[in-house]
Amino acid sequence: MRKLAIVTATLLIAAGCANNTQQVTVSLHELYAGRDTIPAELYGQFSEHLGRCIYEGIWVGPESSIPNVDGYRIDVLEALRDIKIPVLRWPGGCFADEYHWMDGIGPKENRPMMVNNNWGGTVEDNSFGTHEFLNLCEMLGTEPYISGNVGSGTVEELAKWVEYMTAEEGTMADLRAANGRKEPWKVKYIGVGNESWGCGGDMTAQYYSDVFKRYALYARNYGETKLFKIACGASEADYDWTKTMMLNARGQMNGLSLHYYTVPGWDCDKGSATQFTEEEYYRTLTRTSGVDNILRKHIGIMDSLDPERKVALILDEWGTWFEVEPGFNKGHLYQQNTMRDAIVAALNLNIFPKYVQRLKMCNIAQVVNVLQAMILTDGPRMVLTPTYHVFRMFSVHHNAVVVPSSVKCGTIVSSDGETMPDFSVSASTKDGVIHVSMANPYLDKDVPVELSFDSLNPSVIKGEILSAPSVNAYNDFGKEPTVVPAAFDKAKATGNKVKLTLPAASVVMLEIR
Ligand code: AHR
Repeated sequence: MRKLAIVTATLLIAAGCANNTQQVTVSLHELYAGRDTIPAELYGQFSEHLGRCIYEGIWVGPESSIPNVDGYRIDVLEALRDIKIPVLRWPGGCFADEYHWMDGIGPKENRPMMVNNNWGGTVEDNSFGTHEFLNLCEMLGTEPYISGNVGSGTVEELAKWVEYMTAEEGTMADLRAANGRKEPWKVKYIGVGNESWGCGGDMTAQYYSDVFKRYALYARNYGETKLFKIACGASEADYDWTKTMMLNARGQMNGLSLHYYTVPGWDCDKGSATQFTEEEYYRTLTRTSGVDNILRKHIGIMDSLDPERKVALILDEWGTWFEVEPGFNKGHLYQQNTMRDAIVAALNLNIFPKYVQRLKMCNIAQVVNVLQAMILTDGPRMVLTPTYHVFRMFSVHHNAVVVPSSVKCGTIVSSDGETMPDFSVSASTKDGVIHVSMANPYLDKDVPVELSFDSLNPSVIKGEILSAPSVNAYNDFGKEPTVVPAAFDKAKATGNKVKLTLPAASVVMLEIR
C-alpha cells in the first residue's frame, strides 16, 4: 500500500465543520420532488482517437488474440454495460477536426492510414470508423454523440456524414447499405466543431458563430431523425464566448458546449496522478468544485438571453488532467486513477443535478485509457478504476427525479485560496425509492451526518461505500484491486431521520424507502 507523501506543512483551513463532533445536516425535501428530472446524459462518456482509448481500449480487431466480439474487446464491453453509459461522444476532441469520416468506411484493406497529428503523431489504420462506432453504441444501448469536423472539413462533408448515418434512401443510404448497414442508425447529437477557439480552427467567437450557422444549416434531418445540434462553447470561464454564441446563433443551436478540466498543478507541471501531497489533494478538490461557479455563471448568461431555456448547456469534456504516467507517450494522456479521482467524480456528479433545468449532458474525459478513465488496459489485462465505481454507483440517479436538499456544512480552503463545501450530496427518487449520494472530502476526518426528511419515516434498504486504504491507492494490473465498493450498513433510521458517519475520503450511496 502506498502512503500519501506529505511534503509541506498543511495549509488547509477548515471552517464550520472544524471538529468531529460538529455534524453535517442535510434536509431532504421529498415532498417537493417532482419538478426536475436528472437526465441520464449527465453521466455521459467521451471516447477519442487518442492514445489507447479506441485502439486497444475498445477495438482490438477481429483477428486479435485478446478475446473479442467482432473486434470489440469483450472485457471492456461487459464492464461498460454495467455502468449503463447513456451517451458516448466520438471521435474527438481535437481529433474530430482532422477526421475525415469517408476514410473510415468500406473494406478495411482500402481504408487509408492517417497520422494522428494532435496526439503523439500515432499512425492509425482507420479500422475503427462510423460503422464500428455506431454499432458499438447499439451494443451498449448508448446514445451516440458525433463530433463533426469544422476545422479542416467542409460543409458538404458534414452534411453527407449526417445523411450517410441517418437517411433512409438516396446515394448516401445506398453507400451505407453497400458497406453492410441497410437500416439508418439513430443519431441525435451532432457537435458542430470542437474547441473552435483552439485546436478546432483557432477562431474568434464572432467568426465561429457564423461558421457554425453555415455547417448547422446543411446538417439535415432525415426520416424520423431530429438532430440536436451542439455548438462549440467556451473553455472554463470564457463568458464572452458564451455571450457571443447566444447573441448570434441561439436560434440555430440546441446545445452549447463547455469544457472544464481539473488541472491542479501549477506552472507547467500538472502533478502526478498517484504521487501527490495533501496540499495538492485539496487543491485538486477545490479546483474541481470550481465547476459549480463556472456552470452558474454560464447559465446566468444563457438565462438572460434565452429565458425559455431552448438552448441546453452541454459540459462535453470534464475530468482530472495530470502528468502522463512515466514511460508512456506524452501525447497519449495516459494517467492512473486513485481514490482522489473517485472523490473528484463524486463531487462533480453531485453538483451537476443542481443545474438540470439548463445542463442536459456531461461527458467525462475519457472512457478508456485517457485522462480520468473508467477503465485502463495493458494489452489483454484490464482494471476498473475508482472513477468507474463511482459512475456505477451513481447510475441509480439516471432519469430519476431530483429530491431538493439543503445542507449545513463547513468550508475547505486550499492553499491557493480556493474554497469548497466540506461535504457533498445529491438525492433523487425513482419507483418509490430515494437514493442519496454523499462524499466526505476530508483526508483525516470522519464526518457525522444527519439526513432528515419532510415527513417520511425512512428505512435504509441498502448502503454502499467506496473508500481506500489511502487516498492515492489505485487498482493496478495483476494485483488484487484495493479500491472497490463494499456494503455499508452503518446508516441508522429513527423517526424522520437517518444518521451515519461518513469515513474520511469516502463516497457513500444510500437506498432509502
Ligand atoms: O480530452 C483531451 C482533449 O482535451 C480533447 O481532445 C480536447 O477537446 C481538449 O482540449
